[in-house]
Amino acid sequence: MPPPRVLLSAEQIRTRIAELGAEIDDSYPGGEPVYLIAVLKGAFIFLADLARAMTTPVRIEFIGISSYGRRKSSSGQVQLTKDLDVSIEGHHVILVEDILDSGTTLAYLVTLMAQRKPKSLRIVTLLDKPERRQSPVKTDFVGFTIPDVFVIGYGLDYAEDYRNLKDVCVLGE
Ligand code: IMP
Ligand code: MG
Repeated sequence: MPPPRVLLSAEQIRTRIAELGAEIDDSYPGGEPVYLIAVLKGAFIFLADLARAMTTPVRIEFIGISSYGRRKSSSGQVQLTKDLDVSIEGHHVILVEDILDSGTTLAYLVTLMAQRKPKSLRIVTLLDKPERRQSPVKTDFVGFTIPDVFVIGYGLDYAEDYRNLKDVCVLGE
């Protein structure tokens, strides 16, 4: 396989996340803590950088969702593999995703989180592949809109590999 092509460099990602952090700060002027809920595993690096790009007080939580396994497209079946450890009732919540693809995962999570009566519920995704959407999802903050290519790096994997690449790269061209 040829070396992966860089789609978004570490520098581009860093610049965009600084903007996203400021945008998010602006929309929570109250000074109340915001729960950043990262969807495991892909969002862990984005969460770490985004949280530090914000000045709003944050609390960090994780939720686990069944992943693709060794395949490149969603099974359409979503399974909760790790639930939150805390109640989010009455709190501001942002779901933090690495990439929005078919929308199956976030549509499921939005429904699940909304049942728990947060004060507000928003979505931030680093990457969005709108061409692939099957379930409608309303995002509040998007890092980059990308074409329909399979990407790896900056937390994103293919069969659990490549998560530690600093850039977002296109696999298998
Ligand atoms: P969705 O449920 O189809 O929207 O898929 C969202 C999840 O699929 C993401 O959280 C990723 O884990 C995974 N995914 C979707 N597209 C890609 C990709 O291009 N590279 C790596 N993982 C992806
Ligand atoms: Mg993921």
